[in-house]
Amino acid sequence: MPKAYLSRAELKAMVEKLPRVRMAHLPTPLEEMPRLSAALKGPGGATGPRILIKGEDMTGLAFGGNKARHYEFEMAEVRDNGFDTLINIMDYHSNNARMTAAAANKMGMKYVLVLKNAKGRPVQGNLLIDKVLGAELHLLDEAQSEKAHEYAAKLQRQMEREGRKVYLLQDHLFPRIVGMVGFVLGGLELQEQLEQMGIKKAHIFGVAGRSLCGLILTANNLGLDWKFTGVTVTYDPTLDKYIFAHSQDIKDLLGLPVTFAESDMALLDQYVGEGYGVMTDAVAEAIHLAASTDAIITDPNYTGTVMAALIDQIRKGHVKPDETVVFLHTGGLPAVFAFAEELAAWKG
Ligand SMILES: Cc1ncc(COP(=O)(O)O)c(C=O)c1O
Repeated sequence: MPKAYLSRAELKAMVEKLPRVRMAHLPTPLEEMPRLSAALKGPGGATGPRILIKGEDMTGLAFGGNKARHYEFEMAEVRDNGFDTLINIMDYHSNNARMTAAAANKMGMKYVLVLKNAKGRPVQGNLLIDKVLGAELHLLDEAQSEKAHEYAAKLQRQMEREGRKVYLLQDHLFPRIVGMVGFVLGGLELQEQLEQMGIKKAHIFGVAGRSLCGLILTANNLGLDWKFTGVTVTYDPTLDKYIFAHSQDIKDLLGLPVTFAESDMALLDQYVGEGYGVMTDAVAEAIHLAASTDAIITDPNYTGTVMAALIDQIRKGHVKPDETVVFLHTGGLPAVFAFAEELAAWKG
């Protein structure tokens, strides 16, 4: 018996039953990258595939990024449960930390940011924007970072004694799965844009993460002819704990007929290099190539790594000339400034 897929309206209704605060600039654009495509050749000089970019870096909220879709749902959850203060524990370079600060400001909530490995770091990139946005910053050194949760819980208790209702993000399940929710709608948006361009079959490249899994959920539930390549940007946390462990949670939250599995995504983990936050030569090349062809700025930690993977996979012939690639640009732009010297020194 053929599988019964959901209609667009049915899937949309499942997500839209959740409370939501509109704060992202949507829909994000889907644009061609013809010059990048022309600059890339496969084995034997084969032409590059058609490359489109889905611009999640255009969502607003202090330099944009994938988290804007998440916070539309997360902020509604926090507000509706009567919380007035958010505590977030993140690394000093976190995009999430910065975008939460922007979203909290828009909600009129107090935002307390416990930043790991942050003491003595240059105030640049996301850290600078966190400061400008007025977040209450707690910059931990390496030793303190190992006990960051204890540190945050103590702050929480203090603020609760002062009468605040505090939501410590790391103590809740919702923030861990909400990243997929917004991207189910993002998937519907993308499908509509592709349909308008007459494209049914697509190969989507993105960071191996929740956003990509949201798109997979859309594809699996609508029966779309999309395939996915997820690029790993860090060795920690393991993807299993971070995303795959939550496939049932998201299915239950939305009441979806089907969820996602690890096998829905081709995982590429060979582009991480030394580790998160250390830019490889391939990433530096990718950043310069995307910028000097189609004027797309990618960042050294996330989207530049995905771009490096895409370029390499095309050059090796693993992405074929007749495919249509969608590059999911998930944001992260402030990190460009945190790598100013290395990027400026790069000669190719
Ligand atoms: C720029 C960027 N892209 C992708 C991701 C992965 O996020 P997610 O797992 O929500 O897709 C992050 C996470 O912080 C990010 O900052």
